[in-house]
Amino acid sequence: MGIQFNDVSFAYRGLRVNYDAIGHINLTIEAKGEFIAIVGHTGSGKSTLVQHMNALLLPSSGTLNVFSQQLPPKKKEKINFLRQKVGLVFQFPEYQLFEETILKDIMFGPKNFKSTEEEAKEKAMKAAEVVGIDASLYEQSPFRISGGQMRRVAIAGILAMEPEILVLDEPTRGLDPKGRKDLMDMFKGIHENDNKTIIMITHDMDLVSEYAKRVIVLDQGHLVFDGTKEALFEHPAFESFHLDLPTPLKILKHLEKTAGIPYKPVYDYTSLLSYLKEVSHE
Ligand SMILES: Nc1ncnc2c1ncn2[C@@H]1O[C@H](COP(=O)(O)OP(=O)(O)OP(=O)(O)O)[C@@H](O)[C@H]1O
Ligand SMILES: [Mg+2]
Repeated sequence: MGIQFNDVSFAYRGLRVNYDAIGHINLTIEAKGEFIAIVGHTGSGKSTLVQHMNALLLPSSGTLNVFSQQLPPKKKEKINFLRQKVGLVFQFPEYQLFEETILKDIMFGPKNFKSTEEEAKEKAMKAAEVVGIDASLYEQSPFRISGGQMRRVAIAGILAMEPEILVLDEPTRGLDPKGRKDLMDMFKGIHENDNKTIIMITHDMDLVSEYAKRVIVLDQGHLVFDGTKEALFEHPAFESFHLDLPTPLKILKHLEKTAGIPYKPVYDYTSLLSYLKEVSHE
């Protein structure tokens, strides 16, 4: 098993009052084969939740088990290895680039986790290939490429550490539609080729609907739904989650009301179009 939350709560400590960010979370995430979207309003605790997964934050109460390491650790154990096991890509990771060249930036993670120069280079080159950074860019400055490419370099830096689980905090934020699709298809490729578990925070319900298998919904720090996307979008209490429906489902609900076309759950545009073609031939 990969990650297990047992009744985890976390409060940010303030000067006068503490702020409860997540409360009583119970959750199990498999080490392989999952594609999970975490959704919920701004401030609902999504980023706080995922920062527990590699021990950047430790629970105020409750415990976690991450790749057999108990958190908070029992004694003064070293838990740094979890940063390698669970690779966390922050929002706007391109702001964290800092080396002189693209290749050096990608190599930073593996070198930090005790790879030799040669090994780090090999891992970095492999990761660069996965994210589509061409070898001709290796010796360039990471600050002289486009924003979308910078983000790829930053993601390659995490992939080069060869994490078991990849966690992405709003990876597509600020990208144009093509950049968004390219990046999502890349994550899908990593998920399918390596059967890697991917956990992605997003506000974009179209991405949830097209890519995720499982969805976790947070509302004011509480987990209010955990299940398949199919179960989420057909949930009788869907409105109480304060989420938007994905566009294909919105269109079909509208067409059912206005044109009498029978509603059918479809999760991406290709399926929507083929369904509409099908009913228009009937
Ligand atoms: N460092 C901090 N100190 C105090 N409070 C914080 C801190 N970081 C977050 N919070 C508060 O904790 C709550 C949860 O924040 P979090 O960033 O986890 O939400 P989120 O769901 O990721 O939001 P968003 O969608 O805007 O990224 C928010 O109310 C936020 O204001
Ligand atoms: Mg956040």
